[in-house]
Amino acid sequence: MNILIADDDPVTLKLLSARLGAWHHTVHQAADGNTAWETIRSTPIDIVVSDWMMPGLDGLQLCRRIRDRHDAGYIYLILVSTQDSKANIVRGLESGVDDYITKPIDMEALRARIEIGVRIVNLERTLNRKIKIITANHYQTICMFSKIMEVFDDDLGGHCRRTAKLAVELARRHPDVGDAEIPIIETAALLHDIGMVGTPKAILNKRRTEMVDNERQLYQSHAVMGEHIIGEIEIMKPAALLVRMHHEQNNGKGFPDGLSGDDIPIGAQLISAASMYDNMIHKGKIPLDRIAEALQRTRGYQLSPQVVEMLLEINVVQQHEQARKTDQELSLDDLAAGMVIAANVRMKTGAFVMAADTELDDYVIDKLKHYHNIGAITAKVLIRKSSVRT
Ligand SMILES: [Fe+2]
Repeated sequence: MNILIADDDPVTLKLLSARLGAWHHTVHQAADGNTAWETIRSTPIDIVVSDWMMPGLDGLQLCRRIRDRHDAGYIYLILVSTQDSKANIVRGLESGVDDYITKPIDMEALRARIEIGVRIVNLERTLNRKIKIITANHYQTICMFSKIMEVFDDDLGGHCRRTAKLAVELARRHPDVGDAEIPIIETAALLHDIGMVGTPKAILNKRRTEMVDNERQLYQSHAVMGEHIIGEIEIMKPAALLVRMHHEQNNGKGFPDGLSGDDIPIGAQLISAASMYDNMIHKGKIPLDRIAEALQRTRGYQLSPQVVEMLLEINVVQQHEQARKTDQELSLDDLAAGMVIAANVRMKTGAFVMAADTELDDYVIDKLKHYHNIGAITAKVLIRKSSVRT
């Protein structure tokens, strides 16, 4: 085990290091709390034996910092002190200390306590390995369900996969979504339309406005059906609830429960938003640069204004990515006749200068350079890659 000894008394530090080394542990030393904290941050430490009173961070402060780390493996903490009152022991244990030993140190007692630490650290590692295996199996099970949907209907499976990707992106951007919720949102998004497996394709391919009453009923039942399918598995129940709610709308006109506003869990709002966005692109065939208009029509109706704002931000990023594939940013000095402008050129004030799709000639290039010389536009413009001769 990697053991850190933190003590400002050089005699204790030397004595403990010698003993722990003799017990076949790798020993690290720190003469004060701050050095101990730096060592913990930079080195994989399994057990800390720390003095209570130290310069800089004291033993309790060091313990609290260690316990505040949520993304690291467990460190077993033994606090050493001359203070042995019951109140102090309780205070230490409440701060996250695992064990407590008083000075002068009884080496046999310390050895026994280090052995307890070794057992706890090993148990924690075994547990973590098993959790990783279970998590991986769980994810594979979800992917298997998702593939079943794809076998049933290519479009449906693809839609769910893309929706999951976008819902996770939205979840990561949302200030009220914690890391622990993201896998639940991803699971629910991957399976949000699983209740449609079994729905006749003739109904699936219709627009909702084209459905007659019983068809609409059958279609709407997919949300509750989906909840029942995945809710059979106990650990999937939180995701099942989001599946049930993925057609609720901000204005309360969704289904199955007619929830509105903040009564709809954020996860369900994000899945609904991602699904709608994906449908705009893949079913509605709306180009990326026209999505903003379509999204504005959902603001406050199907989607909350906050979620619409987040989708608009993602849409801008996607447009830039798309532009990078088809367009090239060139300096004014590199422009040549025959090239085609890819996006409207605007002054720094926003005023319009030149339209997208304008083909350059010497006169137009001189005009752009003039605007740049008077400080009205930047020195670069977007040009259609296809018009650039290399
Ligand atoms: Fe759906």
